[in-house]
Amino acid sequence: MRQRKRILVTGGAGFLGSHLCDKLISAKHDVLCVDNFYTGSKDNVRDLLNCPRFELMRHDITFPLYVEVDEIYNLACPASPVHYQYDPVQTTKTSVHGSINMLGLAKRVNAKILQASTSEVYGDPEVHPQDETYWGRVNPIGPRSCYDEGKRCAETLFFDYRRQHNLPIKVARIFNTYGPRMQINDGRVVSNFIVQALTGRPITIYGDGKQTRSFCYVDDLIDGFVRLMETGSEITGPINLGNPVEFTMMELAETVIELTASKSSIEFKPLPADDPKQRQPDISRARETLGWHPSIELREGLSRTIAYFDELLRTEGVDAV
Ligand SMILES: NC(=O)c1ccc[n+]([C@@H]2O[C@H](COP(=O)([O-])OP(=O)(O)OC[C@H]3O[C@@H](n4cnc5c(N)ncnc54)[C@H](O)[C@@H]3O)[C@@H](O)[C@H]2O)c1
Repeated sequence: MRQRKRILVTGGAGFLGSHLCDKLISAKHDVLCVDNFYTGSKDNVRDLLNCPRFELMRHDITFPLYVEVDEIYNLACPASPVHYQYDPVQTTKTSVHGSINMLGLAKRVNAKILQASTSEVYGDPEVHPQDETYWGRVNPIGPRSCYDEGKRCAETLFFDYRRQHNLPIKVARIFNTYGPRMQINDGRVVSNFIVQALTGRPITIYGDGKQTRSFCYVDDLIDGFVRLMETGSEITGPINLGNPVEFTMMELAETVIELTASKSSIEFKPLPADDPKQRQPDISRARETLGWHPSIELREGLSRTIAYFDELLRTEGVDAV
């Protein structure tokens, strides 16, 4: 029988965090979801609130937390540029002070701890696809730096806690992930395109639409998280988790228009500062170490995400956008 664990998920009321809480609760664990609701919401975990094994706590991880747990998934941090650039100092603090607090907690209670890092640690990369040995090309002083450098520093802290205190750490570098419960107004490309298509507004492509991205469906990613957490203490990562299949922004826009049967036109706007032209994970390490690879194809994942946004727009109205 699977061992019942006490698991802390920081940022558990966010997009990825809420799916992770769902998965851990259905695996019969006790879950403590900690969130300051900066970008997350109670709605995302509404279905779990009546479960006696689920607990929701309002807390900002830039302050210490004293709880007893066996595992920590550290997901707290706004993930989309509009949100992380709104209060950039708080963004860096969440990654840096937040990691120090969560690592301190892990050390105190001897818990395994997993960091939700990001492909942004590779910056605007000179190598394609990116494997974990690539050190990245990141601007330290630009508008995206609060996020990118905060996450890089968090990785440094994780590995120093490992070297200095022999802490069982896991670092996952997440590439673009999408799915239900992404925020409607967060400026991320998949949610943007879907909402624009569903509301019949023009689909905005930044640049010429030839830049590529790879998109991983949320269920695949969460499966990768849990597999990584379940590895022995010799496995620390970093491990890329993402979908290596690349699509151009143009292809994504056309697929969304087709799946929503939308009459939206496509509009081109200038590229924002430091926007990487291409990002694609090399997931060989995840395949070898975790036996993991994404299995949900883009059209299938997009259809499920479209259904979510369609329902949301029906219940909350177009004003929610
Ligand atoms: N979604 C992606 O494609 C993606 C890609 C790379 C990395 N990530 C990482 O995964 C994690 C989750 O991302 P997401 O897409 O679910 O974003 P999200 O914004 O939906 O979730 C982040 C959650 O953290 C909470 N939070 C923010 N600051 C906090 C603080 N100081 N204390 C407590 N809670 C705080 C927010 O309220 C929110 O619920 C983030 O760390 C993000 O950097 C996500």
